[in-house]
Amino acid sequence: RRANFINMVKHLADVPEKNVEREINLTKESPYRQGYHVESESGSLGDPNGFSYFNHQYHLFYQWSPLAFSQTPHYTQHGWKHLVSKNLVDWQDLGAGIESDTVLDKHGTYSGSALPVGDQLFLMYTGNTWTNTESEDDWHRVPYQVGAMMDKDNHVEKWMQPLLTGPLEGYTGHFRDPKIFKKNDEYYAVLGIQRENLTGSALLVKSSDLHDWQIVGEVKAKHEDFGYMWECPDYYELDNHGVLEFCPQGLESQGNKFKNIYQNGYLIGQKMNLKSGEFNCGHFHELDKGFDFYAMQTMRDTKGRKILMAWMGLPEIKYPTEKYHYTGCMIFPRELHVKNGLIVQKPVDEIKDLYQEEYDSELTLDEKLVEIKAEENNRRDIKLELDCSQAYDTVLDLFANEDNTQHLRLIFNHKKQEFIVNRSNCGIAIAETYGVERSCHLNLDQKIIVRILQDTSSAEIFLNDGQDVFSMRVFTAKDNHRIFASSHNGSAKLRAEIHQLR
Ligand code: FRU
Repeated sequence: RRANFINMVKHLADVPEKNVEREINLTKESPYRQGYHVESESGSLGDPNGFSYFNHQYHLFYQWSPLAFSQTPHYTQHGWKHLVSKNLVDWQDLGAGIESDTVLDKHGTYSGSALPVGDQLFLMYTGNTWTNTESEDDWHRVPYQVGAMMDKDNHVEKWMQPLLTGPLEGYTGHFRDPKIFKKNDEYYAVLGIQRENLTGSALLVKSSDLHDWQIVGEVKAKHEDFGYMWECPDYYELDNHGVLEFCPQGLESQGNKFKNIYQNGYLIGQKMNLKSGEFNCGHFHELDKGFDFYAMQTMRDTKGRKILMAWMGLPEIKYPTEKYHYTGCMIFPRELHVKNGLIVQKPVDEIKDLYQEEYDSELTLDEKLVEIKAEENNRRDIKLELDCSQAYDTVLDLFANEDNTQHLRLIFNHKKQEFIVNRSNCGIAIAETYGVERSCHLNLDQKIIVRILQDTSSAEIFLNDGQDVFSMRVFTAKDNHRIFASSHNGSAKLRAEIHQLR
């Protein structure tokens, strides 16, 4: 399979136009196309990369294989797609941002990040290459950390001298995903790395000129044996705390935690000592507890906000959109804060730029199923205030068909003090091997606030101002757009404010 990498077409522009168009046209036929979430016009979308603010606009790149599902031979490599936006809502697609066209990245322009430097945007990413020096079948990875500069015309100039080359001594070829940041006039980056004993870690490196990089050492966070690889680490300081986000692979699920194929989350504590990598922190928290969330990346914008992007999807999971030759979408960007020592997340306020009709209702719920009034499409920002302290449980069904035999089910179980989202009855099943429910503890003796961003084929659920968040893809029949609610063994009070979105 790897031998196929040789002789690949390097630039999308060299693929016959009709092949590309065929893919885009097929993707357009999908009934699952999102309304306001970033997705690819064809092919696969993965990790957000280079998320930044530069030249008066937001820049978002992502892992992209435009012809991932096509029959076009010899073009399946990863590159970075490039988008820009003034408001984090309306994105302009600038096409291929970086392609895998040099000796340093010939087998994949893997994930990385960006930082404005002077009047340019510095990009730092992993160039993936495979070699088989010893024998025909002995392929192994040689990862290069690559630097590049993008000017105000969005022209990217790659640096041909690698910043760092793996495998480093004591580590395997899994060494990737640099996330750059600046502190006290010094540049730093954290990268995911695998030790020779096959445990994952994050490596801290630093530079004063962006060319010459030194290894500070591993981030010392007392998580020595925590999965076999940490992908996409991101270190930042927020509200006087240090936060290390990453995606550990190979964790066993524990109760209602770590249910997905790969995990996402963060360590939080004191600010990291950047001289030694010492990071005094507590235990690992899942950032998003839903079914589909991975490879998150943050940026700080000029308003001072810490903003999170992530792939609403997971590696190696098959999605029904593949039939239309595309997969993946981004979450709607979220603003982060620290509250009671934990990260809280909320959709950025610019969501209001999408507001159309508003529906308000106040209901007393009981055994009888009531339909909550809303428009006949699933693009909504739903804000709920729920008092279910007098009921056994309260149920909210989204993406429901007329007789509510199909739905995405949200259960607020007062008896068990638990929130559960169940995806088993939606229409098309996905990733069922990893379970059909996700849940968390929730104190339902008191009123709770629920916020749900719904789109054609996704839901992002925020509990109590984003203390717990669940993101997921939902693939239903086209006219499953109803909302139902009921409560059992007692009544519940519900106030709903629903904004339909353009
Ligand atoms: C995470 C990841 C990264 C890598 C990229 C390649 O999804 O595996 O570690 O850089 O995807 O597409």
